[in-house]
Amino acid sequence: MSSLIQDSARAGASVGLKGDRMTINGGRPLSGRIELKGAKNLVTKAMVAALLGETPSVLRDVPAISDVGVVRGLLEVHGVKVSDGDAEGVLHLDPSNVESANFVDIDAHAGSSRIPILFCGPLLHRLGEAFIPDLGGCRIGDRPIDYHLEVLRNFGAVVEKLPSGIRMSAPNGLHGAKVALPYPSVGATEQVLLTAVRADGITELRGAAIEPEIMDLINILQKMGAIISVDTDRVIRIEGVDALSGYDHRALFDRNEAASWAAAALATNGDIFVGGARQPEMLTFLNVYRKVGGGFEIHDDGIRFFHPGGELNPVIIETDVHPGFMTDWQQPLVVALTKATGVSIVHETVYEQRFGFVDALVEMGATIQVHKECLGGQACRFGQRNFKHSAVISGPSRLHGADIVVPDLRGGFSHLIAALSAEGVSHVSNVGIISRGYENFINKLEQLGADFVLEA
Ligand code: EPZ
Repeated sequence: MSSLIQDSARAGASVGLKGDRMTINGGRPLSGRIELKGAKNLVTKAMVAALLGETPSVLRDVPAISDVGVVRGLLEVHGVKVSDGDAEGVLHLDPSNVESANFVDIDAHAGSSRIPILFCGPLLHRLGEAFIPDLGGCRIGDRPIDYHLEVLRNFGAVVEKLPSGIRMSAPNGLHGAKVALPYPSVGATEQVLLTAVRADGITELRGAAIEPEIMDLINILQKMGAIISVDTDRVIRIEGVDALSGYDHRALFDRNEAASWAAAALATNGDIFVGGARQPEMLTFLNVYRKVGGGFEIHDDGIRFFHPGGELNPVIIETDVHPGFMTDWQQPLVVALTKATGVSIVHETVYEQRFGFVDALVEMGATIQVHKECLGGQACRFGQRNFKHSAVISGPSRLHGADIVVPDLRGGFSHLIAALSAEGVSHVSNVGIISRGYENFINKLEQLGADFVLEA
């Protein structure tokens, strides 16, 4: 029997596991129904957008994950009143009294998140200055912020690097700009949106990221009074306005979490109904899932993912920006690919170091090699640069239990799936990191019949 110890799930609260190590008895199919809430990669940005309003905002379907807790803390130190609504997953955000925060408080609340960089545009509008500490986030590559700083300079911000972080000011206000991103960065596109909506004049962004989470952020900003048009060829135009109001918005579902449970169903021979998942935002994932041999059914209230029996097929995938195959989908899927008959190739083109998690899979009996070359697709930014960013997975492998340490959010979830699908017992440490992006994953694993114990 499994047991669990988890903090109560309060929307936006700092949620962490009391125990950080799980003992998993693998080999049981995961089966049952789980419900998704809003996307981590939208909700956290939507919370920042509330800073731009002159009236309070209401955000619905907010997941109880620790990244939301980090943003909540950062908003609170800047004077935003954040409170839970009566219904589960509802947050009220009142920015009437936004104020400067001191460096130490910002640093203490930023934790390991990269979200603080997105506070800059809104804070420059509200207060004329902003400070960001050294940024964290998952260790999956260099993850620089050069695009963000360049974007802010284009709008007229003055950027000063200090030993403790970066200070920004806008002595002459922020004005619309022509911005061209060298790569369709999700965060830098959000930076442009959150800054341009209240800048003086028109902004034209070329090379924008167009992920569904970005489109939902645009929906929110339009509700607040912004004027934003999304043109063809990754061009976004924003006409700055003098004032924005608050919003009331139900967040887009978390398609990364949906893909993770889908991969778990496949890897464990299981059958999982993912409530709240929708087809349009997952089209590319569903195509790959079908090619691998996974079964799915689209319903009005979610998607059922299952292993239909028989052998799984190898595939060749290249991760890419939307509408390509998302980088966040590859780690969980790689576990299922270890069970496919034949050779699969995954070429990671978004982050240069996102295969650290495969070492643990190899220890569990998978046959995976990582290469510096761009395999199976177009040459990418990381070719010829000494980054092991192409993985060759040969299967089928029978995974066996092992002692593993979770390295980052998505890699960590893939380790969980691997342990759940393996024969025998695994000890998985550092599982707390998974609560950065997966709401109540312990409860969900219980609901799906996983056999594990969470150590206190
Ligand atoms: C977002 O990160 C997500 N995080 C990531 O999810 C996701 O993997 C990524 O977008 C791609 O979809 C959040 O939304 C909080 P990027 P972001 O800017 O915005 C380079 C997860 O597990 N780059 O699109 O930080 C960068 O190094 C996380 O949920 C620069 O070179 O990603 C990377 O190679 C992990 N300079 C590429 O662009 C910059 O200034 C794409 O990064 C910014 C980015």
